[in-house]
Amino acid sequence: MAERIAASASLLPSAASPSSSTRRATVASGLRLRPSPSRFSQAASRGRGVAGAAGVVPRLRVVRCMAASEAAQLKSAREDIKEILKTTYCHPILVRLGWHDSGTYDKNIEEWPQRGGADGSLRFDPELSHGANAGLTSALKLIQPIKDKYPGITYADLFQLASATAIEEAGGPKLPMKYGRVDITAPEQCPPEGRLPDAGPRLPAEHLREVFYRMGLDDKEIVALSGAHTLGRSRPDRSGWGKPETKYTKDGPGEPGGQSWTAEWLKFDNSYFKDIKEQRDQELLVLPTDAALFDDPSFKVYAEKYAEDQDAFFKDYAEAHAKLSNLGSKFDPPEGFSLDDDKGAVATEEKVVADPAPASDTNGAGPQPEPFVAAKYSYKKRELSDTMKQKIRAEYEGLGGSPNKPMKSNYFLNIMIVIAGLAFLTSLTGN
Ligand code: HEM
Repeated sequence: MAERIAASASLLPSAASPSSSTRRATVASGLRLRPSPSRFSQAASRGRGVAGAAGVVPRLRVVRCMAASEAAQLKSAREDIKEILKTTYCHPILVRLGWHDSGTYDKNIEEWPQRGGADGSLRFDPELSHGANAGLTSALKLIQPIKDKYPGITYADLFQLASATAIEEAGGPKLPMKYGRVDITAPEQCPPEGRLPDAGPRLPAEHLREVFYRMGLDDKEIVALSGAHTLGRSRPDRSGWGKPETKYTKDGPGEPGGQSWTAEWLKFDNSYFKDIKEQRDQELLVLPTDAALFDDPSFKVYAEKYAEDQDAFFKDYAEAHAKLSNLGSKFDPPEGFSLDDDKGAVATEEKVVADPAPASDTNGAGPQPEPFVAAKYSYKKRELSDTMKQKIRAEYEGLGGSPNKPMKSNYFLNIMIVIAGLAFLTSLTGN
């Protein structure tokens, strides 16, 4: 963590979140950072403390610049993201935002930011207008107020924080994230169009490998990351894929419409793999690239495993997501930093979710509707229905058990098994 001389008037980083070197150069020359032309970065820079009369020499003082983003601000931003999620159910689009910022990475290009990746470039119009990013403007609109509130964090970190928080809040695993990503500063630094995958290529498995291998990811990671489609919907007016609405999406929550991959599309679990494997429900979406996960022999090994074993999926997803979120990033400090002490722990069934406030807590406003909790299905242990309990009890008693005492062993059956075993052995020795 280097000590740097910074102009006190410029202590709040600009919306463009300049790199350390740019900040140093700015101070040395006494110039102010020019806001970027994007409407998002213009919004972010409105009312910032970088203003001052031309010709006034800024007071200089020594400050300790901790990192590209400040940990305390990231933590507060995370709480604000949780609030947005509770009211708008925008989990899926925030995940897509983070993925589309990082998924432009090309491991064959060494230079930053030419190599693409998680560098905040998706806030600039040239990249936002790429065909693959249709619809992501609304995600940016949702989180721009958070960027405005916390000027000490970069867009690159905010995008990845929003995505990771959305996964975790939807019931997914705890992700071993690190922060400190430096932002690119100008639209000219955006990656070229065409680096993200196409949903309907001629050879889907080959296409997936071509795109994800370029990012340095392997078959296991391709399959695990595709599991993010357990969340969200496809909309014909954005990507061109999916039905305008289905029985699962016509009433929202959030903006209604689109076609989801899973019935409970705000819950992060392994149902994506189960549903694609079965392909029984015409209301659910299967893109050609989704189907490839069960068609291609190498992908299929993982897809089958994840359909059977949610813990295995969560473990691999958490690792792959964290890796995806770091692609191409330049970190300051170079090793990045974590916001959690318990980084990387996979969420267990026991994870607690805040229950709705009791009616008496609502200032006499009467009973409130239960707030929608995206993750409630997977966080809590389910209580068996009375019918199911009766059925289990009947089966148990039918086998000689009783609810109040351990089941007696069935002596007659045991004797029969011993006799059969002895008869078998006798026949063997006779031969
Ligand atoms: C494997 C190659 C992939 C392809 C071809 C693909 C394609 C698509 C398409 C066509 C949509 C619909 C967009 C719309 O109409 O609004 C979509 C949505 C989505 N994608 Fe992917 N995707 C891929 C990988 C990923 C990855 C790696 C992630 C995250 C780790 C991801 C997360 C999402 C999410 C969460 C949505 C739902 C967005 C919403 O509901 O607004 N996708 N994807």
